Amino acid sequence: MSSTDVPTDGPVWAIVLAAGSGRRYGPHPKQYEFLGSERVVDRSLAIARAAADHVVVVLGPGEEAEGARLVESGAADVAVEGGEERSDSVRAALGVIDEDAAVIVVHDAARPLATAELHQAVVAVVHGGADAAIPAVPVTDTIKRVTHDEHGDLVASATLDRSELVAVQTPQAFRADALRAAHAHGGSATDDAALVEQAGGRVVIVAGEATNIKITGPMDLAVAIVLLGTLG
Ligand code: C5P
Repeated sequence: MSSTDVPTDGPVWAIVLAAGSGRRYGPHPKQYEFLGSERVVDRSLAIARAAADHVVVVLGPGEEAEGARLVESGAADVAVEGGEERSDSVRAALGVIDEDAAVIVVHDAARPLATAELHQAVVAVVHGGADAAIPAVPVTDTIKRVTHDEHGDLVASATLDRSELVAVQTPQAFRADALRAAHAHGGSATDDAALVEQAGGRVVIVAGEATNIKITGPMDLAVAIVLLGTLG
């Protein structure tokens, strides 16, 4: 799928995904929790803004007033309503991104500690010719595939080779044409690189950041607050 004849030196757009209902988090959507003086979504937007020419924020249904505030404040250029699945939310954002976009960075608002340097690093690898660049960190736990046996017990069925595994983060950068093509026929995945891989794209791994945790549960927010105090 690689189309290295298409220039990547045009505008960089960032999509910041904040349309999750946060069902695993608790009663309040995690993207609106406070990390010190700013909300999770505000920090994610500010960092994406530092590394992109334009920013789209994707919000949940009924959050038009929040979207208008974010656009009015300059935190985002456009706000759109997301969809049922994460991939639907990405497609909603693709619908408002200009045709001349060269590189699109997709970032989960739930990772507010990703640095601007990480955003810039993935964009640089796409500028260098990759269809996609994604941050990843080594897996330190032993990972097993599991199943249920005839008693209904959870049992291990295989132990995976840890040296072949990495844990993937966002921000993920894509040639705009590669990301659009990967989403052209729908599909759902927990990250966009999966769709680009399925379409035959070349996805390059860059060193992720151990501190770039995803806020999934309340403990993650507590850890992020401590990390923020350490990182500044
Ligand atoms: O649920 P998960 O933690 O994997 O969500 C990752 C990111 O995708 C979060 O920032 C969440 O707000 C966003 N998301 C979205 N639309 C959905 C589901 C998740 O924008 N339908």
